[in-house]
Amino acid sequence: MNMIISESLRLYPPVIQLVKKAERESRLGKLIVPTNIDSVIPIVALHHDPQIWGQDA
Ligand code: HEM
Repeated sequence: MNMIISESLRLYPPVIQLVKKAERESRLGKLIVPTNIDSVIPIVALHHDPQIWGQDA
């Protein structure tokens, strides 16, 4: 039952994206993110990423 609930929440999360504001300049991988820039975090895309979940994500 837990596996079914987790898989349902992965495929159909109740929140599909978040917006985060950089309070100060920060490094994100190769990117320098300036202060006050908004970044969209696409939860649905992360939950369907084949690099994490495999080709049948
Ligand atoms: C209520 C349902 C859920 C919500 C709202 C949610 C939300 C999120 C958010 C906001 C992120 C991005 C985190 C970040 O800022 O890096 C994320 C990433 C992720 N979530 Fe979920 N999640 C949910 C359910 C699940 C479930 C059920 C699983 C696994 C069974 C899961 C696995 C992951 C994984 C593997 C990532 C990527 C982490 C990474 O690449 O750093 N999530 N999710």
